[in-house]
Amino acid sequence: MNFNGITNGVSTKRVLITGGAGYLGSTLVPMLLQRGYEVVVYDKFMWGAGSLLSHAGNPHLEIVRGDILDKKLLARWMSDCDAIIHLAAIVGYPACEKFRDEAVEVCLLRNIPHTSSLLQVLKFLRVKDKPRE
Ligand SMILES: NC(=O)c1ccc[n+]([C@@H]2O[C@H](COP(=O)([O-])OP(=O)(O)OC[C@H]3O[C@@H](n4cnc5c(N)ncnc54)[C@H](O)[C@@H]3O)[C@@H](O)[C@H]2O)c1
Repeated sequence: MNFNGITNGVSTKRVLITGGAGYLGSTLVPMLLQRGYEVVVYDKFMWGAGSLLSHAGNPHLEIVRGDILDKKLLARWMSDCDAIIHLAAIVGYPACEKFRDEAVEVCLLRNIPHTSSLLQVLKFLRVKDKPRE
């Protein structure tokens, strides 16, 4: 796996994954660690953090409990990352069934603000960004 394409040839070292404790994230995290990346998982652990327990002692992995709607906390963790993989979401029928009353609001309304929130933080950081080596 090579993320150079995402960053226009700039070497990518530290990757933040929103929703990194989920189904896709928990597969992606060990793949990135194995390839020498530093990984920050930023997740509110709606389904727990068990998927990451076997990697919890890895010095190249930071696990952060946070909501992506919390722009201040998100900005703090995004600021020193080279790439962001945005997986945080409420996904699938079982989740919608479990949170039946929230499902429409969460899936139709909140997922859009989630992404919008992330983009706003990125825009803010880009303005303040200093060239990296
Ligand atoms: N699973 C698949 O086969 C598949 C296929 C194609 C696309 N996708 C997409 O990939 C993304 C991730 O899917 P998944 O299957 O890993 O989902 P998942 O439900 O397993 O994981 C989502 C993670 O996001 C976290 N999360 C939810 N809201 C959050 C918030 N406000 N702040 C921080 N974290 C939050 C949850 O705690 C969870 O750990 C989704 O956008 C999904 O549509 C998944």
